[in-house]
Amino acid sequence: MKHIFLSLIFALAALADPKGGHCSKGTTCTVGNHCKAGTTCTVGYARTKTTTVKTKAPAATTATKPKPTYADACIISNYQGVQACVSSTKNLIVLQGPFTVPSNQVIKMFLRDGVKVILSGTITFERATILDGNSDGLINVRGKGITFESDPNNQGILYGSGEKYWDGLGGNGGVKKPFFFRTLTSGYSVFRNIKLINSPAHVFSILGSDTLFDRITIDDSLGDTKGGHNTDGFDVMGDGIVIQNSWVHNQDDCLAINESKGKGINFLNNTCIGGHGISIATYDGGIAENVLVKGCTVSKSTNGIRIKTTYKATKGYVNNVRFEDVKLNDISWIGVMIQQDYLNGGPTGNPISKVPVTGVTFKNIAGNVISGKNAVSVKILCGDGNCKNLTYDNVKISGAKATCAGVSVNPPGSGC
Ligand SMILES: *[C@@H]1O[C@H](CO)[C@@H](O)[C@H](O)[C@H]1NC(C)=O
Ligand SMILES: *[C@@H]1O[C@H](CO)[C@@H](O)[C@H](O)[C@H]1NC(C)=O
Ligand SMILES: *[C@@H]1O[C@H](CO)[C@@H](O)[C@H](O)[C@H]1NC(C)=O
Repeated sequence: MKHIFLSLIFALAALADPKGGHCSKGTTCTVGNHCKAGTTCTVGYARTKTTTVKTKAPAATTATKPKPTYADACIISNYQGVQACVSSTKNLIVLQGPFTVPSNQVIKMFLRDGVKVILSGTITFERATILDGNSDGLINVRGKGITFESDPNNQGILYGSGEKYWDGLGGNGGVKKPFFFRTLTSGYSVFRNIKLINSPAHVFSILGSDTLFDRITIDDSLGDTKGGHNTDGFDVMGDGIVIQNSWVHNQDDCLAINESKGKGINFLNNTCIGGHGISIATYDGGIAENVLVKGCTVSKSTNGIRIKTTYKATKGYVNNVRFEDVKLNDISWIGVMIQQDYLNGGPTGNPISKVPVTGVTFKNIAGNVISGKNAVSVKILCGDGNCKNLTYDNVKISGAKATCAGVSVNPPGSGC
């Protein structure tokens, strides 16, 4: 039953838009996946195509649009004003920067259904000393059918002061480092056109369902030389999450899927630079299912695209994951990988994870790894018979050879 249901979702998606995109604004939703079938599409999921890599963060939106008046909005112009607006009855809230969030304080916006938040100008978070990865994020947004987006005339920027924390240890030690932005949203919520700079550690921690992240810029590029670590771009534990048209320069996974099943995750037309690539990375017991990564570029990263299941993990599974139209530029280690020996800190080389990996497709994947002793173009390291139904279609990665282990027959097209 489950399989029939899942393939129905995908068949509908394929019929509705052979390009793999989503409903476009104003049309009637047919996908039933990221918009409700039969309703008019309002969120405006863009169609996608592969883009060329931009090594500089996209410029702020220029001020050509009419200036919004925000006449009936609740305006927050300092940290002390946050709670009053969140508890007000206004349906529009403006976070009007510039202002500073004092050390060890966080912004909490647990919003009523349908509330819209406009982020205007820069909010700077002073360095916290007692917050860590288990605490609230520096900013926390919850709600159903909410919108959180930039002022089109005054780019919304969240400045995390990461450079005042970075010690090369990330979440593994050293000073305490909070996550930057935690979301728990549902009901076709949208986060759009916001920029986050210098995150202490992990940037987005995404929970909930049916939420779109569009045109998000994560610029932790300074961390390349100043000790940024574990600055994951998007960590997802949610369902029906779409992340698109975004740009990430960081020092860890660009996307890490911790858990998602049902509607799964679409990661479309995104650019990833400097980190560890796009990762499907379940913990012991985690499930990653129905994932589409399409039209993305990964550059100057240790890995390109990968599925990593944890060494010794006994529960959970990875199923139905598709990587399509992905460009890899100058990957320093492994281009395309399925590994079952993952351990935070370094792979063990011993693929004894018991997590089955099934129904994985790599299609139209092109690019290069930087030649070197450890470089691998395509790597399969599976527990014996644990990975099934792997498809490699038009995968062309230059610069190193492919290695396959743990599969009884090397998948055609893998290069092994
Ligand atoms: C991923 O899952 C693990 C295990 O539940 C959890 O400890 C960790 O905080 C999660 N990461 C994120 C970013 O949600
Ligand atoms: C892809 O994303 C970039 C922003 O990174 C955007 O400028 C471009 O329009 C997007 N392409 C499509 C087809 O949505
Ligand atoms: C192989 O995986 C694809 C993609 O998930 C799926 O559509 C197909 O049904 C699978 N085939 C088998 C024999 O399991």
